[in-house]
Amino acid sequence: MAGREIEIVVVDDADAAAQRAAERLAKAARAGGHLVLTGGSTPRRAYELAAELEPDWSRVEVWWGDERCVPPDDDRSNYAMAKAALLDRLAVPPAAVHRMEGELGRDEGAAAYERELGSLERFDLVLLGLGPDGHVASLYPEQPTLDETERRAIGAEAHLQPFVDRITLTLPPLCAARAVLFLVAGADKADAAVRAFAGEPSHATPGSLVRAAQGTTTALVDAAAAALL
Ligand code: 6PG
Repeated sequence: MAGREIEIVVVDDADAAAQRAAERLAKAARAGGHLVLTGGSTPRRAYELAAELEPDWSRVEVWWGDERCVPPDDDRSNYAMAKAALLDRLAVPPAAVHRMEGELGRDEGAAAYERELGSLERFDLVLLGLGPDGHVASLYPEQPTLDETERRAIGAEAHLQPFVDRITLTLPPLCAARAVLFLVAGADKADAAVRAFAGEPSHATPGSLVRAAQGTTTALVDAAAAALL
């Protein structure tokens, strides 16, 4: 599967979606490579379950798709959420944890992340959420960040809560991944889900622009979010 193809997997509810996502994360941890985590709140349960299913993450390096510009112990930090739900629960930690340094601010933090990415060519698995407005990572509708072709990480403004600056991966590294997995749950995502997964690519819906061009793209959607699909 490649190009714009997407496999849509609909499950009963958010718990079932978390379970399926956790199974995929555990499999990726066993396979090894470079794994990108997402923020927001939907993945929290998936992270907890993934740590139970596979407590040895020594074969993977962990990255983030986006971060809020707050310190790493702030309640709004995507790193803090993943640390509490996943990293702190592992018996064997990842080979490396590459967090985005939100505390540096959006521009310096993005530049630091680009340096951290170094010569890495492709992520093996990118986990993404989908905002009710169709955003992914911190790539918001109709923003110039969607046109970025050179840089792999950039600063961004938040267009939904929490209203703090962001650091985000850009579309090129997301679309270069070997696999992309969207995890989407809840009725408030139904409109965004149909636009992102069943519509034409459009800057109005950043999720519609993320496809693993030479890999697999899967959308794991609960029944409420899949209501219009
Ligand atoms: C963030 C995110 C963001 C998130 C979506 C969906 O920092 O907020 O990484 O892109 O994935 O907003 O979040 P939920 O799944 O929690 O609704």
